[in-house]
Amino acid sequence: MVATKAALHAAALTPVAWLGWQVRNELLTGSGGLGADPVAAIEQFLGLWALRLLVLTLAITPLRQLTGKSVLLRFRRMLGLYVFVYASLHFAAYLVLDLRGYWTQIFAEIVKRPYITVGFAAWLLLVPLALTSTQAAMRRLGRRWGLLHRAVYVVAVLAVLHFWWLVKSDIREPALYAGLVSALLGWRVWRKLRPVTPRRTAAAG
Ligand code: HEM
Repeated sequence: MVATKAALHAAALTPVAWLGWQVRNELLTGSGGLGADPVAAIEQFLGLWALRLLVLTLAITPLRQLTGKSVLLRFRRMLGLYVFVYASLHFAAYLVLDLRGYWTQIFAEIVKRPYITVGFAAWLLLVPLALTSTQAAMRRLGRRWGLLHRAVYVVAVLAVLHFWWLVKSDIREPALYAGLVSALLGWRVWRKLRPVTPRRTAAAG
């Protein structure tokens, strides 16, 4: 279990380590692997990884239900926290590299650009989820914890909308994530609505 967790941490940190390396090369040699517009590349990279990890986090419950391996649930919190880490780095990159310190400009952007509005709403919703991800918060909130953490479904829909609205012409990539999120949320709806088949008991023969 410890080894699996360590491997998962390493895997989740690999993208940001790769990005750090490219930024270093960019700064030292002027030629990293970030292309002609490094600022956009950094923002896109971090946003995309936040979304990928979000999809992975949402896949844990269906995978557990399909395989019966409840051990999978142990990785859900870790993955969820990495979603928050990548989304926050993405937001920070936007504030520092794009707005270049004119941070109050974010309010004008939120009003003016719908894709920023929904991206910001998604990030804001992630904050209470990250803050209440501890065992202690779980115990304290009881049933309300589950209700609160359903907000992750809203985050997923907002993140896909954010992506969809910001692409100019080629919608293939956001469409792929829209499909994945629809399938993962659809699975949950189907599980809730499907008729429950009564288990055969010994008495019933
Ligand atoms: C305060 C919150 C956020 C702000 C201000 C923000 C801003 C941006 C901006 C400006 C871009 C376009 C970058 C460019 O093409 O130059 C972008 C792209 C993106 N963002 Fe966000 N974002 C926010 C939250 C989020 C969250 C929470 C997620 C996912 C969980 C996310 C996922 C993405 C994705 C997938 C892209 C597209 C990457 C690509 O083009 O390949 N963003 N965001």
